Amino acid sequence: MTSPYSSSANSSQPWDAFDTGWYLDHNYRTLRDDDQVIIDRIGDHFAATCGRFLRGIDVGTGANLYPALAMLPYCDEITLWDRASSNVDWLRHEVMGYSRLWDKFWGELAGKARYRPVRDPRLELALVATVRQGDIFRLPTARWDIGTMFFVAESLSGERAEFELAMAKFVGCLVPGAPFAAAFMAHSQGYVVGERAFPAVPIVADDVARTLEAIAHNVDIHKIDTETPLRQGYDGMILALGHAGRR
Ligand SMILES: C[S@@+](CC[C@H](N)C(=O)[O-])C[C@H]1O[C@@H](n2cnc3c(N)ncnc32)[C@H](O)[C@@H]1O
Repeated sequence: MTSPYSSSANSSQPWDAFDTGWYLDHNYRTLRDDDQVIIDRIGDHFAATCGRFLRGIDVGTGANLYPALAMLPYCDEITLWDRASSNVDWLRHEVMGYSRLWDKFWGELAGKARYRPVRDPRLELALVATVRQGDIFRLPTARWDIGTMFFVAESLSGERAEFELAMAKFVGCLVPGAPFAAAFMAHSQGYVVGERAFPAVPIVADDVARTLEAIAHNVDIHKIDTETPLRQGYDGMILALGHAGRR
């Protein structure tokens, strides 16, 4: 399906018509092997940073709660920041008592030492999460202590400059030294959500590494492949784990 929108810029896309239910069903109804690997690595990355960070943010949350769950033991507040009104409406309801499908995602974290003290993740998320309708390009700087951004920077536009700016805005909203995890679709040709097509920038792991070079440190980039792709038109996932700012 091709996009009816003449520009592939972020501001030209029909974000408020993002079909949250369709996206949730297609992407997260079951726990995929690639998400399982990602969850395991984020859990270990955050655990290795050893602190209690207080303020967390997930940028472009959409219909995905597992990045926020990965920050749960560390945060007194977690901001879920997304531009689409459809996602924001769904999130405001969902975080109040998330549905059972997220139990298997939490199950991947629950066995790790840093996650074991969280007795009731459903209640904890309801207590700490705040949903904000906001634009990644208008994030304040140096405001959060830990952050995640999943399938957003490369999937919000067809313009490479916007991918790079989104990366800078995400890392820049974190205080220097803050741990982060960011995931990307590799070589994405764009994607369909229900009746709508959205553009993407066809990045590879080197693009992520190069973009983070000047704005982050201790960065590890992982390529994650699967034999059962989510859809056609991409080439696996990329996970970047690191810390904000120059060392
Ligand atoms: C491909 S979805 C990824 C959703 C989710 N993070 C996940 O892991 O599946 C891209 C998300 O980016 C959000 N988005 C697009 N443009 C944005 C912007 N300018 N500011 C904040 N969020 C934006 C969309 O609303 C959507 O939720």
